[in-house]
Parts: sequence; structure tokens; C-alpha cells
Amino acid sequence: MNYKLSYFSFAIMLSILFYGCGSSLKVPTIVDAKSSGISIDTLLKGRELYINNCGACHNLYLPNKHTDREWEETMKSMQKKAKITDSQASIILKYLSTYSNKIKK
Ligand code: HEC
Repeated sequence: MNYKLSYFSFAIMLSILFYGCGSSLKVPTIVDAKSSGISIDTLLKGRELYINNCGACHNLYLPNKHTDREWEETMKSMQKKAKITDSQASIILKYLSTYSNKIKK
């Protein structure tokens, strides 16, 4: 067996593993905070609340899978399912809308 080749396939397997574990859920940066007008603390809190409250029943959907309006609509039913407060739901929405789909109509 070619050693170089097996290292290569091992690396590919690792990256597939990590990709599958939600590492693609964007971590807010200062630049994102500036351009969205939402504080970095709020964005970080929103990501944390999203991870902790929304992944129990299904995989976390990437923010860019839905538009702002779709997220707002979905949140109405999911807030009840996740048993979170209005203010927690609104912080999660701020995170989701910062990275939501801006192209889809
Ligand atoms: C108690 C289990 C549960 C929790 C907690 C939960 N969900 Fe869901 N979610 C569901 C179920 C069941 C469905 C599919 C059926 C439906 O739409 O009711 C779903 C569907 C969705 C969908 C897909 C909607 C669509 O039409 O494509 C999104 C997006 C979503 N949830 C987001 C969230 C968010 C955001 C949270 C956290 C606030 C959350 N979910 C927490 C059970 C849950």
C-alpha cells in the first residue's frame, strides 16, 4: 500500500468527519458585527443559544438555508418546541439573520 496515498485518504476522512460536526456554523467576527449592526456579544450569544436549544430533535440547519422571513416564520413554531423565551428566540434570530440567505426570493 502506498503510504502517501493512505495519509491522503486519512486526511480526507478526517475533514469529512469535522465538516459533519457543525464546524461550518459560522463563528461571528467583528467585521460581521459591524456590517450587521448587531454587537459581537449578541451574535456570539445567538450562536451559542442556537447550538444549545435547536439541535436536540434535528441537525442544525445552516443559517443560509433560509431567508430572514423564513427564519422568523419557523421560529414561531420552533420557539415552542425548544421551550425558550421571547428574548432568547430574538437573539437566535439575530444570529441567523446575519448569515441568512440574502439571494433567494
Ligand atoms: C422538540 C423538538 C424540536 C426542537 C427543540 C426544535 N425543533 Fe425544529 N423541527 C422539529 C420538527 C419535528 C420539525 C419538522 C416538522 C415541523 O416543521 O414541525 C422541525 C423543523 C425545523 C426546520 C425546518 C422547517 C422547514 O420548513 O424546512 C427548521 C429550520 C427548524 N426546525 C429550526 C429550529 C430552530 C431554530 C430551533 C430552536 C429554536 C428548533 N428547530 C428546535 C422539532 C424541533
